[in-house]
Amino acid sequence: YSAHFYYNVIKDNGFPMPDDEKMLYGHFREDFMWSTASSAYQIEGGWRADGKGLSIWDKFAHSPSRILNDDVGDIACDSYNKIEEDVAILKQLKVSHYRFSISWPRVLPDGTINHINEAGINYYQKLLNALLAANIQPQVTLYHWDLPQAIEDYGGFLNDSFVKLFRDYADLMFDRLGSKVKIWITFNEPIMVANHGYGFGGFAPGINSGPDTLPYIVGHNLIKAHAEAWHVYNDKYRAKQNGKISITLNSDWSEPRNPYRQEDYDAARRVVEFYLGWFAHPIFNGDYSEIVKTRIRDRSLAAGLPHSRLPEFTPEEIKRVKGTHDFFGLNHYTSVLAFPVDYGDDASFDADKGVVTVSDRVWLDTGSVWLKVAPFGLRKLLNFIKEQYGNPPIIITENGVSEKGTVDLNDVHRNYYYEKYINQVLKAYLLDGVDVRGYTAWSLMDNLEWAAGFSERFGFFYVNRSDPNLPRVPKNSVNFYTKVIKSPTGSA
Ligand code: NOJ
Repeated sequence: YSAHFYYNVIKDNGFPMPDDEKMLYGHFREDFMWSTASSAYQIEGGWRADGKGLSIWDKFAHSPSRILNDDVGDIACDSYNKIEEDVAILKQLKVSHYRFSISWPRVLPDGTINHINEAGINYYQKLLNALLAANIQPQVTLYHWDLPQAIEDYGGFLNDSFVKLFRDYADLMFDRLGSKVKIWITFNEPIMVANHGYGFGGFAPGINSGPDTLPYIVGHNLIKAHAEAWHVYNDKYRAKQNGKISITLNSDWSEPRNPYRQEDYDAARRVVEFYLGWFAHPIFNGDYSEIVKTRIRDRSLAAGLPHSRLPEFTPEEIKRVKGTHDFFGLNHYTSVLAFPVDYGDDASFDADKGVVTVSDRVWLDTGSVWLKVAPFGLRKLLNFIKEQYGNPPIIITENGVSEKGTVDLNDVHRNYYYEKYINQVLKAYLLDGVDVRGYTAWSLMDNLEWAAGFSERFGFFYVNRSDPNLPRVPKNSVNFYTKVIKSPTGSA
């Protein structure tokens, strides 16, 4: 059945899908952070305004056939010129927090602190002032995928000078904006940067390196750069600014396809270890996990390489990286079913995992092929984090659902998704003792969904792209989310 079929079923009959579990009623913490999110390239536009440098996504989007329908983010939602409108719709939603990202090339056009673009910094100052005036607390991501093209020209994440460039950029942002920001996120979803940017090439800078060696190098430099930014904040700014800083990692939850087969359990575990664990294990526990290290090393040696394709941390680096978190930032959307496969000596990332993943046929479709509705997975993933990484405070920094095709402002499928997923968060918090501090819905408004262009819409607000003013039009889910936020039970 198509996604459309399911939307219609939901619309015609209320919420008819069989639900094994009852809803739980109860309270989140008093100071629970209710947020919604966006990112610079997806909404800002102003791609060459006021001295902004180019990012790898500007270049990628302007290359033929990289983005569906050759969409580009040159104007996007024009948020660069619409601070007032954006803050107004955030107020309408009644969120306590707003997660947005800084465009690195807008503030540092060539990526280095040799040339600071004051107009760019000014934009973020104004946005922060407007948010605080509306009593909305900012959650600021330093890197949401729009690397200055000038840095990519020198090898980007593959060049370990990247670590110092990122540290300097972060230092400048703490210095110039930090008095107004209490929540910082260094990197958004590093696995996507590594695998899709430098492995498969579906995201900027579009490097399709075939056998997976480059993503591990990229990942290694990302972890080191994250740690350096955390240390700068910790050493120079924490005492004065009193904020929190961490990284946002994304992961599907993975279940054994056949629950009667140990091999399927092991495969499901490997999915999460190679996904969330790739970055979480070094940052929370020090070094890559044994499962990841052993599999990549064994496969590298079997293929005749002199050493593992996974870079090693020195003992000093392990010390420097371990513990560089004030919370666990989690993006989560969907789940998979896993079973093992033997790819022989094919040296690809999937071969390192040795897993095939599929969806369960009963999970509802959405506007994105990779996203099936499987709410239970969020509770399981939250419990996994609690158990594996020392029960850290968790901020869910993204969760949400898309539609595509004909515009329908009556997005009850989104209400369904949020109701079910948020209730799983409540269960994790109340029944399982997971330390969840906040929930962030992706996204504030429909925007440029990366390689899918504007075709997949995740927003609470529809952006009418045929009107040059790009008005933000509320969907039905705006009221729904506001009710959830205000309800003492944590569900509408
Ligand atoms: C993850 C990314 O952080 C965000 O930019 C993207 O739009 C959503 N997920 C939906 O795919």
